[in-house]
Amino acid sequence: MTGVQTCALPICSQLFPRIEEKEAQKILQSVTHDSEPEKKASSDKSKDEGLAEQVTIDDFMKIDLRTGKIVAAEKVKKSDPDFFQNLSKQQNPEYLWIGCSDSRVPANEIVDMLPGEIFVHRNVANLVIHTDLNCLSVIQYAVEVLKVKHIIVCGHYGCGGVQTAMENKEHGLIDNWLQNIKDIYRSHQARIDELENESEKVNLLCELNVIEQVANVCHTTIVQNAWKVGQELTVHGWIYSIEDGILKDLDVCITKPDEISRTHRMK
Ligand code: CO
Repeated sequence: MTGVQTCALPICSQLFPRIEEKEAQKILQSVTHDSEPEKKASSDKSKDEGLAEQVTIDDFMKIDLRTGKIVAAEKVKKSDPDFFQNLSKQQNPEYLWIGCSDSRVPANEIVDMLPGEIFVHRNVANLVIHTDLNCLSVIQYAVEVLKVKHIIVCGHYGCGGVQTAMENKEHGLIDNWLQNIKDIYRSHQARIDELENESEKVNLLCELNVIEQVANVCHTTIVQNAWKVGQELTVHGWIYSIEDGILKDLDVCITKPDEISRTHRMK
């Protein structure tokens, strides 16, 4: 490794292309002198080898985290000088997003919303499991404290979690999580299996999974209690296509208890 411009991590230059080498060198210097052990090691080395020679992958990660913060903060401050000050005071989102952990489906970017505008929960294959305290806690906070008006379950076509659930291979712990999708597959097996194309089968199950999770959200005591006290709350089912960036409404919008199955309706 001979200098900051030769970072072996390609993602660094994609994320932070605006940092000039000189600026990066300056930040590198401040970063490598932050902690005592590193400080000693780096100053000893730099005497003999020069700054460029002592750079490690760890250093690059620190540089990029720092520079990333600088770039992002400056960019936002330019268009809205009070942005961070206002954001730090409160969050007031109208939406709760329940989506897949897949790195290609980030909530804010897909719906073009700023930080503070959408509350987010993500897990593998955007599941809402009746006993998942993590997801239920997010829903409770969003509905009871933040008073969101919309809960969006958003899946995506070609979801790896859904695809894996359709296979009969063993993958360890995650198979237990994916059983929930297998249950949906079993309920719609005839309809799915009659399709010939494998990706069409996966994509249909991706849609059916979203519809099932919308129902699961509505079946929670949290959502039903909100409706009971007259709180305005709509649950939506959307699906996103990574290939063309199009968001599709699956038209399974639920706004009141009359629209859920009688079995799950609480009086
Ligand atoms: Co996914």
